[in-house]
Amino acid sequence: MMSEPNPTSSITEDAAATPANTGPAHVPIEAEEIGSDADSAFGDDSQSWTTSIKSSIMNYKYENGRRYHAFKDGSYFLPNDEDEMDRLDLFHHLLTLAIGDKLHLAPIGDNPQRILDLGTGTGIWAMDMGDLYPSAEILGNDLSPIQPTLVPPNVKFEVDDMEKEWVYSSKFDLIHARYLAGSLKDWPGLMEQAYKFTKPGGWVEFQDFDMRFYTTNGEFYRGCPSDVWTEKVIEGITKFGLVAEPGPKLEQWVRDAGFINVHHELIPIPVGRWPKDPKKKEIGMFDLYQFLDGLEAISLRVLTTALNWKPEEVQVLLANVRKDLKNPRFQAQHNYHVVWAQKALTAT
Ligand SMILES: C[S@@+](CC[C@H](N)C(=O)[O-])C[C@H]1O[C@@H](n2cnc3c(N)ncnc32)[C@H](O)[C@@H]1O
Repeated sequence: MMSEPNPTSSITEDAAATPANTGPAHVPIEAEEIGSDADSAFGDDSQSWTTSIKSSIMNYKYENGRRYHAFKDGSYFLPNDEDEMDRLDLFHHLLTLAIGDKLHLAPIGDNPQRILDLGTGTGIWAMDMGDLYPSAEILGNDLSPIQPTLVPPNVKFEVDDMEKEWVYSSKFDLIHARYLAGSLKDWPGLMEQAYKFTKPGGWVEFQDFDMRFYTTNGEFYRGCPSDVWTEKVIEGITKFGLVAEPGPKLEQWVRDAGFINVHHELIPIPVGRWPKDPKKKEIGMFDLYQFLDGLEAISLRVLTTALNWKPEEVQVLLANVRKDLKNPRFQAQHNYHVVWAQKALTAT
């Protein structure tokens, strides 16, 4: 199914539908020799959450020293504090680099009018899109009101739960959702709503992960701390009823929802400075940094709540995972899936 054993492989309409995920597809990255260098907002929609910041939204929860969202308390497992916001902004940089210094791959033309960013996080993607497309109104939604208030005039944020019924008054040229692994219960339901609210001829773009690490030639083995960590985090997220690894399933869900012109790029993301290619090395460096910095954020709520681990037990595992990740011989990578697709011009 993967066209080339290249750092980035492309899967197009011609390729057969992707089979169910049976573990990450292995895409080699050449390693450097060790030791060398180691809305509603824009219309009159009566969205209840658009501007009114209610105490139910701001009354954040604190667990194990981290701050969590209040709106729909408990439905999302990552914190929303300053440290996590920094990590998300770093991730934005990493992910734009990974897709070729771009904000999106869907061919939306130069003058899109309405763009929706689902689960916008700090809103950094939406703000960059606002700068890039002055013609467009960009709406970002999230459970947490952590976006800045000083934003480009064509960018707006609202607190909303994307898994509830959407009530936008008009449709979008692009609906975008990035890095929602572990956020959602019902992806096919989300895709149906996205289809309904995409203009005929408009596009959707979903970018997401396959959490499991793999390596083609490094010191990675099943049962090592990083492997245990991944399995346990996936187990915990799944126990919450959330989809931990949407990446490999995006293409099929998009097809099932009725979109056409489906494209799928599989991008392996290295963890660490081990790749030979300078761009991959830079991406790997950022990824290593965000893992070292973000392991606690990713793990604490999941492991202590879903799997009843003690915080100290989590910290011991994380210390060992950090050792793995910092080992230049570890050479782990994980897969990032970018899927974009169009709603037929003849559709309603
Ligand atoms: C890992 S962050 C990614 C943020 C952003 N998409 C990015 O790429 O930087 C996931 C975001 O989705 C939000 N989220 C999770 N479940 C949600 C839901 N049901 N409705 C709206 N936002 C949600 C979280 O609050 C968080 O900000």
